[in-house]
Amino acid sequence: MATPHINANFGDFANVVLMPGDPLRAKWMADTFLHDVKMVTSVRNIYGYTGLTKNGKKISIMASGMGQPSIGIYSYELFSKYGVDMIIRVGTCGGYQQNINLYDVIIASAASTDSNWVHQYGLNGHYSACADYDLLETAVNVARSKKVNLHVGNVLSSDIFYDADKDGWKKWQDIGVLCVEMEAFALYCNAAKLRKKALCILTVSDSFVVEGELTSEQRQAGLTRMMEIGIETAEKFAK
Ligand code: HPA
Repeated sequence: MATPHINANFGDFANVVLMPGDPLRAKWMADTFLHDVKMVTSVRNIYGYTGLTKNGKKISIMASGMGQPSIGIYSYELFSKYGVDMIIRVGTCGGYQQNINLYDVIIASAASTDSNWVHQYGLNGHYSACADYDLLETAVNVARSKKVNLHVGNVLSSDIFYDADKDGWKKWQDIGVLCVEMEAFALYCNAAKLRKKALCILTVSDSFVVEGELTSEQRQAGLTRMMEIGIETAEKFAK
């Protein structure tokens, strides 16, 4: 069995999949956090791995690529063809608010978007894309136990990284959106439509309002910490 974008067999994925954007980060996560790892898919170098955590829980890690079309494809195929129950995106974002510092962790309880993703559903209004509450509550508790600077709220999933409208982001800031990334909205919609569970956990890698830059060590430490939150959350739901 295979889908157009995944060449794994049914049963190769665990019920929970952690999803970074970058395929090499997926490999690094599998090498760092899992043992007895098997690579289960590699179409277009979008690598997917299944293995055991240090606590013996079976989980999978697979890259999403960048943007909503990409995560939309992989999450749809995982949910609908591979029996995956939940996907936890672990990624980076650009902070919009003054109280959000580089290196903070943001958990997206909801996602807004400038994309046309929901057009396909023909809805007679505006859809609110939400995280699964069980995953959200668990991840928030895990993050709090690690004493990270945590923000929970609405994020913007934008289709545009290099925006011709240089001030457009200020309106999202003004309405209280925490940060911008490029995938959560489509992931949450796919999960809702297919009656599955999804969550997005982010590290603030840059900011539209706070000065400064992360050193490469801080960046790596921030990513590692976020992935630990993702892994510990995933372990609580692994079958
Ligand atoms: N925009 C969109 N996605 C991002 C950003 C950003 O500024 N930073 C990290 N991911």
